[in-house]
Amino acid sequence: MPLSRFPLILGAAGLAIATMLPLQPGPVLAQGADPVAERQAGLKRMGAHGRAIKEALDNTGDLSDVASRAREMESFFRTLPALFPPGSDKGDTKALPVVWSERAGFETGAARTAGFAGRLATAAAAGDASASDSAFRELAGSCGACHRTYRAR
Ligand code: HEC
Repeated sequence: MPLSRFPLILGAAGLAIATMLPLQPGPVLAQGADPVAERQAGLKRMGAHGRAIKEALDNTGDLSDVASRAREMESFFRTLPALFPPGSDKGDTKALPVVWSERAGFETGAARTAGFAGRLATAAAAGDASASDSAFRELAGSCGACHRTYRAR
């Protein structure tokens, strides 16, 4: 099979996997996709998850919805650094140059965020509202911590 057909097949497989997820499929990583648009769409989705989780914890108490959203956040933040490849500092982006020049801190921030999202998912799946609350506070704090250093206002 010619090598050039691989991206097409991988794209189709990605789509198939995405449609099997319980939540609406997020943006599918397409070959040659614009990483800036890709990460901004993904982060926007994370913002929506964060708001929905806050609403659930403060008002509805639907912890199963919290668990599934937090799991998706965990996997998104595990792969976040890959959405900031070298050279994607140009164009319509708020990512600051320190994303690339202070990479270790950036990757640690993403990993910490993924870790808090995972703790939140576990707490919510166990039906533990107070552990969910404290994990969510740490999660939200870790978003802000990264933004203060790595994102332009
Ligand atoms: C490791 C660093 C890091 C972490 C952790 C992080 N962000 Fe961000 N975020 C960024 C950067 C950098 C940008 C700017 C991206 C760009 O414009 O290319 C951004 C942009 C955004 C945007 C704007 C997207 C758009 O529409 O352009 C939202 C919303 C957002 N983040 C939400 C979150 C939430 C919610 C969390 C925590 C659950 C979070 N972020 C955690 C680094 C981070």
